[in-house]
Amino acid sequence: MCEPSGRIAVLVSGAGSNLVALADAIERGEVGAQIAVVVSDVADAPALAWASERGIATSVVPFDRADRPAWEARLADAVESHGVEVVVLAGFMRILSGRFLQRWMDRVVNVHPSLLPAFRGADAVGDAIAAGALVTGVTVHLVDELVDHGPILAQEAVDVVPGDTRATLLERLHAVEHRLLPWAVDQLVRGNVRVVDGRATIGPTEQRSSR
Ligand code: GRF
Repeated sequence: MCEPSGRIAVLVSGAGSNLVALADAIERGEVGAQIAVVVSDVADAPALAWASERGIATSVVPFDRADRPAWEARLADAVESHGVEVVVLAGFMRILSGRFLQRWMDRVVNVHPSLLPAFRGADAVGDAIAAGALVTGVTVHLVDELVDHGPILAQEAVDVVPGDTRATLLERLHAVEHRLLPWAVDQLVRGNVRVVDGRATIGPTEQRSSR
């Protein structure tokens, strides 16, 4: 495995609050990384506009349902051309296949608004409320070929309170995401993450959990 360079790509499809949190954490010196490029499958994603305004390189690779392998190859090229060692999925709403993942083996990280393996999928927050869950949370994990699955780097629980809507619960989940994702990215770029048999260990023994 080559030594990490600290150059990261952030893949986004939407609002980009995690991108902003990550960029802010980098600026505060809390993450030993630089955002080399922000890539999106959605041309008008607010996250892209924010990155452009901030002077970060951006790239749009519109999703092509008719030829997914070609789309993914273009996506990989867009990332690779920036000499990136770690790929951060920050609200990126597309599934990546083995081809992409093998290029950045154990270096693609995702943030998901549930305590995986509970509530996988696109509406984890709504699903937790609909299920009457009293506790949900945030997971940051390395990405494998399954959806919302792979070695877990960080998890933290968030209570679901009576009267919670998607919006109110998501606001509290976001606050946790905005702390856990930068922390996990820092561990990755520092080469502190080891994966053995589908499980991640961080540093000598450290694994982050709030409870
Ligand atoms: C986050 O809640 C993240 O967990 C999920 O997508 C959302 C992205 O939010 N994967 P934002 O675009 O970073 O604000």
